[in-house]
Amino acid sequence: MNTPIDVTTTDAWRSLRADAESFEPDLRGWFARDPGRAERYSHTVGDLYVDLSKNLITDETLRLLTKVAEEVDLPGRIAAMFAGERINATEDRAVLHTALRRPKDRSPALVVDGQDVDVDVHEVLERMYTFADQVRSGAWTGLSGKRVRTVVNIGIGGSDLGPVMAYEALRSYVAEDIEVRFISNIDPADIAATLAGVDPETTLFIVASKTFGTIETLTNARMARTWLWEQLARRGVIGTEPAERTNAVARHFVAVSTALDRVADFGIDTDNTFGFWDWVGGRYSVPSAVGLSLVIAIGPQRFTEFLGGLHAVDEHFRTSEIAHNVPALMGLLNIWYVNFLGAHTHAVLPYAQDLHRFPAYLQQLTMESNGKGVRWDGSPVPTDTGEVFWGEPGTNGQHAFYQLLHQGTRLIPADFIAVANPADPRKDGHVDVHSLFLANFFAQTRALAFGKTADEVRAEGADEAVVPARTFPGNRPTTSIMAPALSPSVLGQLIALYEHITFTQGIVWGIDSFDQWGVELGKELASQIAPAVTGDEEALAAQDASTQALIRYYRDARR
Ligand code: F6P
Repeated sequence: MNTPIDVTTTDAWRSLRADAESFEPDLRGWFARDPGRAERYSHTVGDLYVDLSKNLITDETLRLLTKVAEEVDLPGRIAAMFAGERINATEDRAVLHTALRRPKDRSPALVVDGQDVDVDVHEVLERMYTFADQVRSGAWTGLSGKRVRTVVNIGIGGSDLGPVMAYEALRSYVAEDIEVRFISNIDPADIAATLAGVDPETTLFIVASKTFGTIETLTNARMARTWLWEQLARRGVIGTEPAERTNAVARHFVAVSTALDRVADFGIDTDNTFGFWDWVGGRYSVPSAVGLSLVIAIGPQRFTEFLGGLHAVDEHFRTSEIAHNVPALMGLLNIWYVNFLGAHTHAVLPYAQDLHRFPAYLQQLTMESNGKGVRWDGSPVPTDTGEVFWGEPGTNGQHAFYQLLHQGTRLIPADFIAVANPADPRKDGHVDVHSLFLANFFAQTRALAFGKTADEVRAEGADEAVVPARTFPGNRPTTSIMAPALSPSVLGQLIALYEHITFTQGIVWGIDSFDQWGVELGKELASQIAPAVTGDEEALAAQDASTQALIRYYRDARR
């Protein structure tokens, strides 16, 4: 891996810095004076219509941002990622989640370290599809011969957030007779609530863990296995013989992992294991075998369409020049806001209830990727990195935090996402409710951009004393993303869009967006502290005074 270019020393960065000092956003004026603005700043990628025109940018800003991308060799880094170079420097790994969605028999084949990656990927996909078809058709049964009705995915982080987000998003494509539930948190409340009312004879557990070493997932998997044994025994399906228990696991547990030896140690048959590779980061893994629960829910055909959507945006990102490359442009806009206009957070606001877990999914994607203070060669970053991503679906957010977006003192760029055709078209009398819903989508981005002047407030007859409170400054930047419908393909396109936005920002900052060392210390300390929590006095004495007091409080209060 080469040394990252210090972006702050580039000419384009200096010019942007100079521009930012005297920058006076004027969306009202820009739109009034430039009738071509909306068209010029709107792009199509796959099925996505992306309108960047309500961002705080001029042609010159975009020109300089594009130059920044060139100066840090974004095109070269994109090519390196797609070619399977080891761009995950701190783990010395290739980064090839894009290979997971390459169509079968694509030519030329993708060969990395002498291994035909396409063949490997499609071999696992075929196994997943065969298994999913068996479950969906009822050919795969539980131990007592009953078909599977409930699939429970046990995983955390990337082994949970992608599958749960996609399952919720594609709700209308899910087979009617199969439900997927998700257990992630080690808080026993999660497994208790998720398994409440579930029939053990018709339940299939998928233990999803890239490393198969994650304490939350292994603990939950063991508790689920015990639950299964107890429940099946209670119904007389099994006794207490080890062989009966093994048979129960064989019919009710499958695993998804890169660590096949650890899966075998856990007692899950390797025949029931679906592998993937260390070049797939956890937060990029939903198109891998980690998506098994989704394949079972929506079926292989729809999953293939999902992969097709991801691939379409991959190809756009790989082949488009920066000036027309939508993920790159969106990533560069984020750079503009974070590094020049002082934004600390970024809202993602889906006007699609089915995307309600999308912001949570993006939090791992963006913040685990770009929440870093050193570059890929270990040197400190020369700028701020990693803004906080957050959001809630409209219109719920409107009645919660939009006040701050409209009139607060902070700059919060926001992405608004909507689809033209709802999964559930309904009317309220004669009114099409989706149209009413989207009227809010259009209204919000307009209000944020153009605001309401004091004179406009006065013209409505407002008392002078409340004019300031009722004035909206405007110039609040938004990107609007629209698609025909929330299909599997469109969902794939949205995921790839944000993956590549994240990549673009990481390259500009010179950081390794594919490691996650920052989550390790907490994990290490949790295992060191666990004995203190359960009564080991020596371990307790080794803690700092605050931690000791907190643990004592817990031990005293715990019944
Ligand atoms: O702790 C962070 C993390 O490593 C994530 O990157 C990952 O998605 C999650 O834990 C779960 O890891 P695994 O799939 O190996 O259980």
